[in-house]
Amino acid sequence: MRDDAVGEILVQPDELARRVRELGAQISEDYAGRDLLLICVLKGAMFFLADLMRRIDVPCEVDFMAVASYGSATDSSGVVRILKDLDAAIEGREVLIVEDIVDSGLTLHYLLRNLGARNPASMEVCALLTKPERRKVELEPRYVGFEIPNRFVIGYGLDHAERYRNLPFVAALNPAALTADKGD
Ligand code: IMP
Repeated sequence: MRDDAVGEILVQPDELARRVRELGAQISEDYAGRDLLLICVLKGAMFFLADLMRRIDVPCEVDFMAVASYGSATDSSGVVRILKDLDAAIEGREVLIVEDIVDSGLTLHYLLRNLGARNPASMEVCALLTKPERRKVELEPRYVGFEIPNRFVIGYGLDHAERYRNLPFVAALNPAALTADKGD
């Protein structure tokens, strides 16, 4: 699939696979001897979660949460609505939040506050991508796949208006394709 909206490829499939393998090894080492609960933030993190989880060799479970962040096509407002909450309580669990991308950081900031109030034993974040230039709140995920420049990106789970999640790479969206809709 190639369409005019798909711009420069920023992360190739082989780089994604290599980095996911490295992150899985690092997480397995850090959580050795502990039971891990991965929390996948839908929908953007779904491919990352599926690949990462298969590279983790400590006992782990997964739960899903879906959130929507109000805002324009490319800017989150920080006002977050929970569309789907976790199935189970996380009190006393070793929690790793798996996110697609940290942009302004407002969505993650909300999630950390919301989930932190449920008293997990520990809580860390693993984000595939981060755009440090765009940050509006101080936060650095413990694990990061790639730092990318300030561009709107699609592919490997990331969407624009719900499309392009199935691209096997991460690419910049051509600015001409931007509309008023924001995906999650
Ligand atoms: P933040 O609250 O500004 O950090 O943005 C959080 C959410 O906005 C991410 O979890 C993504 O779902 C979405 N998002 C931010 N930047 C991009 C992008 O470049 N492409 C696709 N989705 C994005």
